[in-house]
Amino acid sequence: MHSYAQHSPAVLHFIDFILKQSGGTQGAFCMRCHTPIGISEGESVLNANPTRSKEALDSVSCTVCHAAYTWDGQASAVFHVPIAGDPDPTLHGPFYGPDEPAPAGAEKVIARVPHKAKRTTHITESRFCGRCHDVFLPDGTRLEEAFIEWKNSPYARKGIHCQDCHMSPIPGKYVPRDQWPLEAIVDDDVFPEAPKRRRSSHKFTGPDYSLIPKFGQADLELEDDDFKALEAQLEEDRKTLLRNAATMRVDHPEQVPPGERLRVRVDVTNSGAGHNLPTGFASERQVWLEVVVRDAAGKMLYISGDVDRFGDLRDENSEEVQKGILAKDRDLFNVQARFVIKDFRGTEVEAISPTNRLLDNVPYVVPAPMPYSILGVAPGARVFKNGIPPHGTKGATYRVPIPEGTSGPLTLSVRLRYRNFPPHLLKEIGIPDYRAKLRIVDMQSYETKIPVAK
Ligand code: HEC
Ligand code: HEC
Ligand code: HEC
Ligand code: HEC
Repeated sequence: MHSYAQHSPAVLHFIDFILKQSGGTQGAFCMRCHTPIGISEGESVLNANPTRSKEALDSVSCTVCHAAYTWDGQASAVFHVPIAGDPDPTLHGPFYGPDEPAPAGAEKVIARVPHKAKRTTHITESRFCGRCHDVFLPDGTRLEEAFIEWKNSPYARKGIHCQDCHMSPIPGKYVPRDQWPLEAIVDDDVFPEAPKRRRSSHKFTGPDYSLIPKFGQADLELEDDDFKALEAQLEEDRKTLLRNAATMRVDHPEQVPPGERLRVRVDVTNSGAGHNLPTGFASERQVWLEVVVRDAAGKMLYISGDVDRFGDLRDENSEEVQKGILAKDRDLFNVQARFVIKDFRGTEVEAISPTNRLLDNVPYVVPAPMPYSILGVAPGARVFKNGIPPHGTKGATYRVPIPEGTSGPLTLSVRLRYRNFPPHLLKEIGIPDYRAKLRIVDMQSYETKIPVAK
């Protein structure tokens, strides 16, 4: 996903949207992490992608991660990376460089490496990822907190880092390093004597996928069929990641008397993610429950967690709920985070971005209109977090009325579902056509029959 960071239509349109909302005051903020080379080259946020350098369009590239000049743990990608014209960079990695003094038995970069190499422990630790995976607006609004959530989790205490899950052979699953594949870094025909080492995966499987057709195919020089096979594999990886993240427990009585309510309790545990579920890009990642009860003839008696004509959940963002065509889903269980902004009366409302221009007369994202370090909170906006912390459990109880005369057995089906963007968001940032490309993943599912009997 890292090579896609400065190409994603969602990113580019969102940046545009916020530039307009903030009267341009957010400056180059968004670019920092999505194209760190573009920032180091001094490209403007107003540059359209075709006018950026090739290196800037490599987004979060090998150079960004392996050749940054500083390793001081600065957050929000405030660091410089080599650009065209700089001397050959030293590449940092998990192995000792050929000229570095190394303890006996330590793995060294092979002597024939075509670049300067140096070991850093930093790169195998979470704080390396935390440079970009905590996103704080200059006014203090905490947009993304994957690193902080991890830091406060049992994984941090056990020394299990982002890399141990996200660069292991199974997407998002902790696999001890001595079980990572043992391979040479370069092909046999390039250097037959290359030593075998524990190799990491650089796929960084996440919930996102490319919205651009054939993204990366030319770079990889793949024929159509091979590229299709690769895309299918990436989709499988994405499902594996999400299915490894959570477990679901459903409790209900063995039978239900007609005329009474069927009580269904569903509990969702974040069993696999080293941070909240969901984490990351606040306000957009949806994890919700769909609960359906049908009678023996298949007639629907109850549903929660279904979507409207545009694919939106029946919450306050659904166009059909807003227009009164559909009823609001009052039982909806959805652990998505929300942006909450202050309007001009000082009360708070939900919005799709933390820019307070919408209702507030202070159009700033940058610079902060007030020092938030003194206030202790961001002056304009905040994120209402709702995610499930590592090893934590959240759930919901459904009480489904079963009318007299209902023919049993009932079919109860429950699904825990994931989606990277709500459709209404794509519409609001100006790319409604991409709504058709959104794909929901079922993380867990459960189905059973329940007799209707006294
Ligand atoms: C998002 C950051 C990131 C990007 C982008 C990235 N790497 Fe890495 N790379 C890492 C990290 C982190 C490790 C160390 C993994 C560990 O062992 O914990 C690593 C390890 C390596 C290693 C050591 C061997 C191994 O398999 O672990 C090599 C070689 C390497 N990277 C090459 C590359 C090349 C070539 C590219 C560009 C195609 C690249 N990397 C892009 C973060 C990155
Ligand atoms: C230079 C900044 C930067 C660094 C360093 C970095 N990332 Fe990322 N990462 C990003 C950006 C930006 C994206 C979003 C890419 C996109 O547009 O989908 C991303 C995406 C991801 C995703 C995919 C999420 C999705 O939306 O599907 C994962 C997983 C991930 N990063 C893990 C890591 C890990 C683990 C490390 C440390 C080894 C790391 N990243 C280091 C900037 C960075
Ligand atoms: C114990 C394994 C584990 C550890 C440790 C871990 N993750 Fe994850 N991560 C997962 C799983 C599983 C998912 C998929 C579920 C989800 O979206 O939360 C995920 C999802 C993500 C996503 C996409 C999530 C989203 O909802 O937008 C990002 C980005 C990410 N991780 C970054 C990180 C970073 C950065 C660290 C270290 C600070 C880290 N992860 C540590 C397992 C892990
Ligand atoms: C401090 C680093 C950082 C900054 C600054 C930043 N991002 Fe991101 N962005 C990330 C990371 C890391 C991810 C991946 C996290 C995840 O998967 O949830 C991401 C993911 C995204 C995504 C979802 C992935 C995709 O390809 O669609 C969008 C949209 C996005 N960012 C837009 C923005 C916008 C707009 C701004 C400016 C307001 C911005 N970003 C500023 C680091 C950053």
